[in-house]
Amino acid sequence: MSRKNIQLTEKLEDYIFRNSVRESPTFRKLREETGTLAQANMQISPEEGQFLHLLAKLSGAKRILEIGTFTGYSSLCFASALPEDGVLLCCDISETWTNIARKYWKETGLEWKIRLKLGSALETLQVLLDSESFPDWASGFAFGPSSVDLVFLDADKESYPDYYRLIMKLLKPGGLLIVDNVLWDGSVADSSHQEPSTIAIRKLNETIYKDDSVDLSMIPSADGISLVRKK
Ligand SMILES: C[S@@+](CC[C@H](N)C(=O)[O-])C[C@H]1O[C@@H](n2cnc3c(N)ncnc32)[C@H](O)[C@@H]1O
Repeated sequence: MSRKNIQLTEKLEDYIFRNSVRESPTFRKLREETGTLAQANMQISPEEGQFLHLLAKLSGAKRILEIGTFTGYSSLCFASALPEDGVLLCCDISETWTNIARKYWKETGLEWKIRLKLGSALETLQVLLDSESFPDWASGFAFGPSSVDLVFLDADKESYPDYYRLIMKLLKPGGLLIVDNVLWDGSVADSSHQEPSTIAIRKLNETIYKDDSVDLSMIPSADGISLVRKK
C-alpha cells in the first residue's frame, strides 16, 4: 500500500494539461483576460475547472450554488454541465469582477441558466434558508432547507466554518459540497501559520472530518479540494 501522491514536476503538469484539458476558446479567453488582473491567482485552474464540470455532470445536479464567482471561470464550468432545466446561483461581493463574468456568460450563451446575487454570501445563504417569498434575484432557483444539489465554496476563507453550517442546511440529502483551498498552500499542516484564514480552514477541515452526517474525501489536487456528500 502506498500513501504517497505523485510529485508533479513542471514537465508532468504540462503533460496533464496537454493530454486532458479540453478548454474551449471562450473559456481560454476568460482565463487570459483574468490573467491581466493583479488578483489572477484567485481563479481556479482549467484542470480543476474540468474536474468540477465532470463532478457536476456525474452528480446530475440541477440546482447549483457557487459561493465566490470572481471573473466567472468556475461558473462557466458548472453552468455548462447543467441540464436544460438546471440553474446556477452565483454569490459574490464584487460588481467589477462579476461584470467580467457576465460578459462571458453572454458570450457562451449560458447566461439564461445563471443568477447572480451580489452581497455578503453569508447573508444570501441565510435569505435562501429563511425567505417566505421568492426574491427576484433567485427566480427559477428553488430554495429553502434541503433544496440544493451541489455547492461550490470558494470565497472568504475566514467564514468557511460559518458557510459550512448554512450549506449543510441548504443541501439535499445526497447533495455534494465541494470546498476549494482546503490545503491553503500547505499552511494548514504548518503550526507556524496562525493567520485567521489558515485557522478557519483548519477548523472547517476538522469539523467535516468529525461530522458523521457526511461522507468525505480530501483530494490533494490544485490547492486541496474536499468532496463532502451529505448523507
Ligand atoms: C477565490 S475567488 C473565486 C474564484 C472563482 N471561483 C473562479 O473560478 O475564478 C473568491 C471570490 O469570493 C468573493 N468574496 C469574498 N468575500 C465574499 C463574501 N463575504 N461574500 C461573497 N463573496 C465574497 C471575492 O469577491 C472573490 O471574487
